[in-house]
Amino acid sequence: MHRIAVIPGDGTGPEVVREGMKVLEATAAASGFDFQHTYFDFGGQRYLDTGLTLSDDELEELRSYDAVFLGAIGHPDVKPGILEQDILLKIRFGLDQYINLRPVKLYPGVDCPLKGKGPEDIDFVVVRENTEGLYAGTGGFLRKGTPDEVAVQESVNTRKGVERCIRFAFEYCRRRDRARKLTLCGKTNVLTFAWDLWERTFREVAPEYPDIQTDYAHVDAICMWFVKNPEWFDVVVTDNMFGDIITDLGAMIQGGMGIAAGGNINPEGTSMFEPIGGSAPKYTGKNVINPLAAICAVQMMLDHLGEREAAERVERAVMRVCSHDLRSLSAGRMGKSTTEVGDLVVKYIRET
Ligand code: IPM
Ligand code: MN
Repeated sequence: MHRIAVIPGDGTGPEVVREGMKVLEATAAASGFDFQHTYFDFGGQRYLDTGLTLSDDELEELRSYDAVFLGAIGHPDVKPGILEQDILLKIRFGLDQYINLRPVKLYPGVDCPLKGKGPEDIDFVVVRENTEGLYAGTGGFLRKGTPDEVAVQESVNTRKGVERCIRFAFEYCRRRDRARKLTLCGKTNVLTFAWDLWERTFREVAPEYPDIQTDYAHVDAICMWFVKNPEWFDVVVTDNMFGDIITDLGAMIQGGMGIAAGGNINPEGTSMFEPIGGSAPKYTGKNVINPLAAICAVQMMLDHLGEREAAERVERAVMRVCSHDLRSLSAGRMGKSTTEVGDLVVKYIRET
């Protein structure tokens, strides 16, 4: 029995979570597993109504679940930073979800903005460190508001944090068992403290994985290669900030925010799965947003919970929808409503 905490959140979050839950139910019936779920109303609306973001007790409650399924956090009437810091990052940090796993996979039938590239060229995974770096929140102001103002934002990199991330990436690369190639993505030529630690750790851990080929790319260069030669990549490991940026680029080459999902992983604790597209306020309530990203998040969650067969079933259904049923993956241009896309995935799950 899997216990799932569900946070629909803001904007189009509830619409895509609704479809994700439909798919989860259909898959449970088809693959024969049980789950229990509880809804939580954390998000911008609750904050505006009550002033509450996420209390320490609520965080503790989330910890008691096997996984968290999140729609989106972010509200146009709330100043940027509050909900991100006090809900999303509080969960990632508080539950020590030290990996942000972001698959970049182009499914057949999906429009790719890269000329001459197809599904055989775009299938890699970014392992993003998820609790440190520039996201650690250290730094501060000096003489704030004066002409002599100083703002310092520091990148925190601990040996433990870097090593557990790199080890996860090697293990993941081995388990994935494709090209067995792990690329470290950094900036050793300029950020000579942080990336010295990363590169040294990478070099020290690598001999334990003689079956994995290793490589290095600067973050600016990897942006070129993702566009020019995405087929070079199998698994990429990087820090929090670089990972944030390159995975948005990755999302675009796999067909956009309509399909991109991610997992915030604590291999020993509670992990959280989410579509990475955000709350999309302008599409809210219109039933036009693409739920496939949320459905792919469900697929990642099932895989993480050990329901491999169920996860594959969901992926096959998503691929079938991509290759047969949609005009585009973009909100409002799918040729189908949010509900209809969810219904099709459910139908294909039942048929296989
Ligand atoms: C992401 C998002 C978050 C991040 C924001 C919303 C805090 O962009 O999940 O990539 O920067 O990690
Ligand atoms: Mn991001």
